[in-house]
Amino acid sequence: MNKHLRERRVLVTGASGFMGSWLSQYLLEQEATVVTILADWNPNSYFVQNGLFHRVQNIIGSIEDYNLLEKVICDYKIDTVFHLAAISVEGLAFEKPRLAFEINIRGTYNVLEACRIHSDLVQRVIIASSDKAYGDSPILPYTEDLPTIGKNPYDASKSCADMIARSYYHSYKLPVAIGRFGNIYGGGDLNLNRLIPNTIRRLLKNESPIVKMPPQGSFKRDFLYVKDAVNTYISMFEGLAHPEVHGEAFNFAMGGSWTVLEIVQKIQQIMNRQDIEPILIPSPHSEIWHQHVSTQKAQNVLNWTPRYSLEEGLRETVEWYLEFFSSPVLANGKTPLIVGV
Ligand SMILES: NC(=O)c1ccc[n+]([C@@H]2O[C@H](COP(=O)([O-])OP(=O)(O)OC[C@H]3O[C@@H](n4cnc5c(N)ncnc54)[C@H](O)[C@@H]3O)[C@@H](O)[C@H]2O)c1
Repeated sequence: MNKHLRERRVLVTGASGFMGSWLSQYLLEQEATVVTILADWNPNSYFVQNGLFHRVQNIIGSIEDYNLLEKVICDYKIDTVFHLAAISVEGLAFEKPRLAFEINIRGTYNVLEACRIHSDLVQRVIIASSDKAYGDSPILPYTEDLPTIGKNPYDASKSCADMIARSYYHSYKLPVAIGRFGNIYGGGDLNLNRLIPNTIRRLLKNESPIVKMPPQGSFKRDFLYVKDAVNTYISMFEGLAHPEVHGEAFNFAMGGSWTVLEIVQKIQQIMNRQDIEPILIPSPHSEIWHQHVSTQKAQNVLNWTPRYSLEEGLRETVEWYLEFFSSPVLANGKTPLIVGV
């Protein structure tokens, strides 16, 4: 039990999503009161299936609604905010850039502004950013002092949200910490067009996994298991007790770099399905080529390190989806052809 979280009054935006549901579950286990602004939910999600839907205080609405944010913070006397709500899938942001900018940028400054106006209540603000905020940097691994210069809509929205969050510290001393995450994976991610769930699903259906390939050669990504990601949020929460963490950004991933094909092959090995040949398809639009983050700062300042190896995380993930897809309704659903990385 984490005594610092007990009886905290926490707003988690995006609690019905993949990461938000694991984080909310942990916070509830620590006896925090968890409130969310619920824009949508999926009846098959971890959030609903694990009963979190009934344990979190759900306020139906959107983070685009500034007045609602202020009202929720006041009504529930929120002292801690974890801001995760976003258009989180790069492909969707590419198709619907206005929506991505509205939610990822305007939604973020709405959250920050409501926290600033009610800084008598809100003591800690944690923002979900991404390693994509760095854009296609030729310098690897990424360190936190690199500029945030994302180019395509998702990446640019994360660069902007990240900069705006830091400006709220620099200008108003809002106690903000920013997590820049590599690709998070684990059970409960219903964004089934993401690489790992889609690969598992296709293999279960005896279909070839899809590997997106840019013209210059394989994409590379850094990964983080969802249970390790929960710990990053708690490390940032704890860190914000110390003024030197205010306004700081931290990279979180395993600190490695794997090609998409390597990930697919590892899943094939775990599922014992090396007999199926992956299909390579050209990437439909430009995306960051190679990603690899340094987690030295998170280790030094927050004393955070990942506990799961890629192998361990993938094994647990495969087990989760095997059970999930054993439901006949889900197993017969359409498998997305275009996958994210
Ligand atoms: N999953 C990853 O690999 C990864 C990596 C780096 C950063 N991130 C960031 O972490 C956060 C969580 O990612 P995720 O994978 O859990 O995303 P997700 O897509 O599973 O969940 C997104 C959540 O945001 C909510 N939401 C969307 N629009 C909203 C609105 N207008 N108002 C209120 N809520 C709204 C959705 O209902 C959902 O609960 C996001 O900010 C994402 O950009 C994710």
